[in-house]
Amino acid sequence: MKFKIALSALALAAAGPAVAEDFSGDAEAGAGVFLQCQTCHVVKDGEGNLLAGAAGMVGPNLYGIAGQPAGSVENFGRYSPAMMAAKDQGLVWTEENLVAYIASPNAFLADFIGDTGIRGSMPIGAPNEAAAANVAAFIASLD
Ligand code: HEC
Repeated sequence: MKFKIALSALALAAAGPAVAEDFSGDAEAGAGVFLQCQTCHVVKDGEGNLLAGAAGMVGPNLYGIAGQPAGSVENFGRYSPAMMAAKDQGLVWTEENLVAYIASPNAFLADFIGDTGIRGSMPIGAPNEAAAANVAAFIASLD
């Protein structure tokens, strides 16, 4: 289980709670996938340390997103009505939900809310489920 060892090493390096160990993706590969997310997202901890990304502010800071209720990042005031509806309906970012959302953001939200006409404000995600699982593991490894 090579990826488990890699995840543990990353979790130790981040010295945070080991949420990442529950994620099945390859966090190292996910770091590469994150390059496609960083136009819009950073991963920045509570002390302002930049853990991934550069200056992307179109989307919310993804620090600590694993296990959190959707649409709950403080200081991000631009969530779509679709994301707010999903939050109201109890969406929590479990691994399964994160991977499905990252792979196909609009289809996931529409399906979760039960309204096929609704769209969120994240236009594209990862190219496929494997890449989504890897980037989810990467983000979780930074907690
Ligand atoms: C073009 C900009 C853009 C790109 C690229 C992008 N996102 Fe997003 N992302 C957003 C926006 C805007 C939101 C808020 C969505 C909403 O309110 O509907 C969001 C929301 C999210 C959320 C939910 C956060 C929360 O607070 O609940 C996650 C998780 C996420 N993005 C992950 C990713 C990942 C991983 C990638 C790369 C594979 C990515 N995003 C690429 C703009 C982007």
